[in-house]
Amino acid sequence: MNAPAIEVGILTISDRAAAGTYQDESGPALERAVTSRGWTLNATCVVPDDEERIQTAIGELIKTGSCTLVLTTGGTGITPRDVTPEAVRAIASKELPGFGELMRTESHKINRHAMLSRNLAAVVGRTLVVCLPGSPKAAVECLSFVAGAIPHAIALINEEPTEH
Ligand code: MTE
Repeated sequence: MNAPAIEVGILTISDRAAAGTYQDESGPALERAVTSRGWTLNATCVVPDDEERIQTAIGELIKTGSCTLVLTTGGTGITPRDVTPEAVRAIASKELPGFGELMRTESHKINRHAMLSRNLAAVVGRTLVVCLPGSPKAAVECLSFVAGAIPHAIALINEEPTEH
């Protein structure tokens, strides 16, 4: 099975960054992490913590951005405005619980509040969506914990169904 290209869209989910009252640092940090892995950065986007806006942005990254991987950062916590898991689950066909489990387990070795993130991964269409915490450090750390499985996951999602 030849591995499909890893074409990445980065979506920062933050009321403050979307309003321009806060400089998004997590998106650029993820851009550096993506390009350092030799993956192709297709598009970036910043939206507020709003379910519909998140879903629309993911759809655009998949359709116009032709992204096979979408990394979101932010909104995975438990404050009233944190809605990223709900937004992604509503448009996903499958969730990959192991991604969230591993991100929290490994993060707990660094930060005792790791379990406060509802980070996850799911399949939307033929794209892998990985939802990372909002801080630049947390986002890059969590990506590093699961990056090893991403190429194979994308290959499987895009596998042509065999006869049997
Ligand atoms: N995971 C890692 N790897 N590093 C971190 O610093 N911060 C934790 C958690 N997961 C953290 C982490 C804390 S303090 C919180 S409140 C949540 O991520 C915040 O998730 P959010 O930014 O998506 O709301």
